[in-house]
Amino acid sequence: MAKQLHVRLDDAVYEALTGCNTSENSSLQDVVSSAIMQYINNQNKEVPENANFTFIDLFAGIGGMRLAYENAGGHCVYSSEWNKYSQQTYFANFGEQPEGDITKVDENEIPDHDILVAGFPCQPFSIAGVSKKQSMGRATGFEDKTQGTLFFDVCRILKAKRPKAFMLENVKNLCSHDRGRTFKVICESLDELDYEVFYQVIDGQAFVPQHRERIIIVGFDRKRYGSDIGFSFDINKVEPKPVMRDILEKEVDPKYTLSDKLWTYLQGYAAKHKAAGNGFGYGIAEPDGVSRTLSARYYKDGSEILIAQEGKNPRRLTPRECARLQGFPDTFKITVSDTQAYRQFGNSVVVPLMGNVAQLICSKITELDAAAEQLAVVKTEKLTAVGIDETVPEVAAHEQMQAVV
Ligand SMILES: C[S@@+](CC[C@H](N)C(=O)[O-])C[C@H]1O[C@@H](n2cnc3c(N)ncnc32)[C@H](O)[C@@H]1O
Repeated sequence: MAKQLHVRLDDAVYEALTGCNTSENSSLQDVVSSAIMQYINNQNKEVPENANFTFIDLFAGIGGMRLAYENAGGHCVYSSEWNKYSQQTYFANFGEQPEGDITKVDENEIPDHDILVAGFPCQPFSIAGVSKKQSMGRATGFEDKTQGTLFFDVCRILKAKRPKAFMLENVKNLCSHDRGRTFKVICESLDELDYEVFYQVIDGQAFVPQHRERIIIVGFDRKRYGSDIGFSFDINKVEPKPVMRDILEKEVDPKYTLSDKLWTYLQGYAAKHKAAGNGFGYGIAEPDGVSRTLSARYYKDGSEILIAQEGKNPRRLTPRECARLQGFPDTFKITVSDTQAYRQFGNSVVVPLMGNVAQLICSKITELDAAAEQLAVVKTEKLTAVGIDETVPEVAAHEQMQAVV
């Protein structure tokens, strides 16, 4: 239940606020609430000394990635998510309100960070501008190829902030989207930005009882580490394999049981499609098996994942069961309506899978940093051996060099 707060404002502040309300196309309450959250965000800016690395959480949703990267020892220095209800859940769990529309954010204002993390929405790239330039014999850069898409925003942040590494996550279909063109442009753009790129489709059922295939794209900064970088997705599967009964609640409110009307409709729909030779229909998840992929549309009828019940119509999953199906801990607060919660968990990620990849990236960065440091020591030793002190400014160093020669 939302609490009410009565605040007395000066006339000038009130006028400014109501003006801001109109221009932002949101309610006065939204504006004030957002301002308070921003104020609180600004209080928690310090990076703790024990943080293994820093990261930013783009297209943050409810913070599935944040949870994963924090579990791997990371500290989040910036987040962006424009959906009001996702922002609410994020704030309830992390005490931080993500910034809104990323397309409006100046990349130079984003804090420095080691790893950029983004589960960006998949959009087609417009071919028009690209093909014209190509036909004129000019190679196109990511600015031309990705303009107007959210992936472009990921690229411009990578270009400005040059984190040591990044991890992007998307649906498996990204690879075949627009007949493979979208994925090709993504890989080319990341390569052009001088990142060594690795990718793999991984199924979340290695960690949770859900078949959920996602492509994970990881990159490391070649400008910093050179191009001799190896990386493999050696994830540690959970043993024994998780099954549906592990995530089911003992006592479930009868409101989650399908009505006779909906259940009759779903059975009729499935029978019609079966007769037509295609397998669309509801899915009953077996207690000792895994479920289908939880989607953001689950709130509509829940038909993709139903639980059979003795002597009753099947039921849909509760929001808490959806959270568990994505590997969220039970301490994760669900403060929004069931409809919003279903949307949010359906849009989110398999947290332990992302955490596993986060650990792999973190280990790789530690290894690469150690190698780069070692290289720097060797270089300094060699320069010192020929009488050049690297710590002195360039002109003086040149003079020293002349002296040595
Ligand atoms: C696939 S979801 C990512 C969910 C997230 N990984 C999680 O664990 O909840 C993509 C998110 O991007 C957000 N989004 C889309 N366009 C945006 C924009 N222009 N600025 C900020 N967020 C945006 C959507 O609201 C959605 O929550």
